[in-house]
Amino acid sequence: MNNIDKYNKGRVEIDLTYNCNLFCNNCSRCCGIAKSTKDDMSVADVQKFVKESVDLGYEWKRIKINGGEAVLNSQFVDIVGVLLQYKKKYNQTCVLEIGTNGYPKLSEKIQVLNVTAENIKVFNSNKAIGCSPHFFTFNVAPYDFFEFNKFCFYKVANICGYLCQCGTSLNKHGFYSCPMCAAIDRIFGFNLGFKKLSRYAIDKTCIQFLGLCKFCGMLRCEMYAKKTTNFFNCKHKHELFLVNCKAVPLVSKKQVMSKSWKSALTKYKNKNCCF
Ligand SMILES: C[S@@+](CC[C@H](N)C(=O)[O-])C[C@H]1O[C@@H](n2cnc3c(N)ncnc32)[C@H](O)[C@@H]1O
Ligand code: SF4
Ligand code: SF4
Repeated sequence: MNNIDKYNKGRVEIDLTYNCNLFCNNCSRCCGIAKSTKDDMSVADVQKFVKESVDLGYEWKRIKINGGEAVLNSQFVDIVGVLLQYKKKYNQTCVLEIGTNGYPKLSEKIQVLNVTAENIKVFNSNKAIGCSPHFFTFNVAPYDFFEFNKFCFYKVANICGYLCQCGTSLNKHGFYSCPMCAAIDRIFGFNLGFKKLSRYAIDKTCIQFLGLCKFCGMLRCEMYAKKTTNFFNCKHKHELFLVNCKAVPLVSKKQVMSKSWKSALTKYKNKNCCF
């Protein structure tokens, strides 16, 4: 079994844009703190993904179009058209999904595509404008806490449910173990995305676990929810973890950001023109 199959359960999420009409605090794609159109995927990018999938004989079970707010990508209709063709021609059992916050233009654009609910499922999270949901504090890096000193981040593969829940992620910068990995790399700028779909080896996936998961706030939440002491190599570190989870919240309506995120975001904003 190769790694793609092992972790993603045949699922891929394509983040078409990191632009959004809302500014949710703690957004897991960092759209609230750094929305951008510069990472928008093009029709050619998605055609490349389809070609690589077909050439590899890789049959996705689910493709989810996501973002940001995907419909804000100016090539949205054509991109969805490419994926509908992929389903029709090569992979009829593949489930196509779109994630949205309820942005009204999505239904207009879907009507243009003339598709039925059977061809594309829409997941509407119905967020009210101006009202931030209670989100997990994505921008709190485990790396910034003493208890994660010497933590083996490749263990994430056994801890994190997002790997199979979301599946592999694809954005303008390549393939990632999950969409949060992709979002972290966008801000920290390590350029760790795999540029080509391949049945890649375990050591390569580990590069992303080691390089990116240490900045992922979802990891603290996943570990806390599992209620086990096994993740740390000593009792003291586990106790400290529980104290820190209270001091720096796992869930919040307000934007929470730890040291490494503040510094990465400053560098990102100096380099990029955010609006
Ligand atoms: C990144 S959003 C993109 C789609 C769309 N903009 C939306 O909000 O539904 C994908 C999903 O992630 C959820 N989400 C985003 N940030 C989160 C966080 N920090 N904690 C929990 N869920 C989060 C959203 O509520 C949504 O269901
Ligand atoms: S609507 Fe979705 S993508 Fe936009 S900021 Fe909120 S969670 Fe992030
Ligand atoms: S810890 Fe975060 S970045 Fe790493 S796999 Fe889990 S959700 Fe993705």
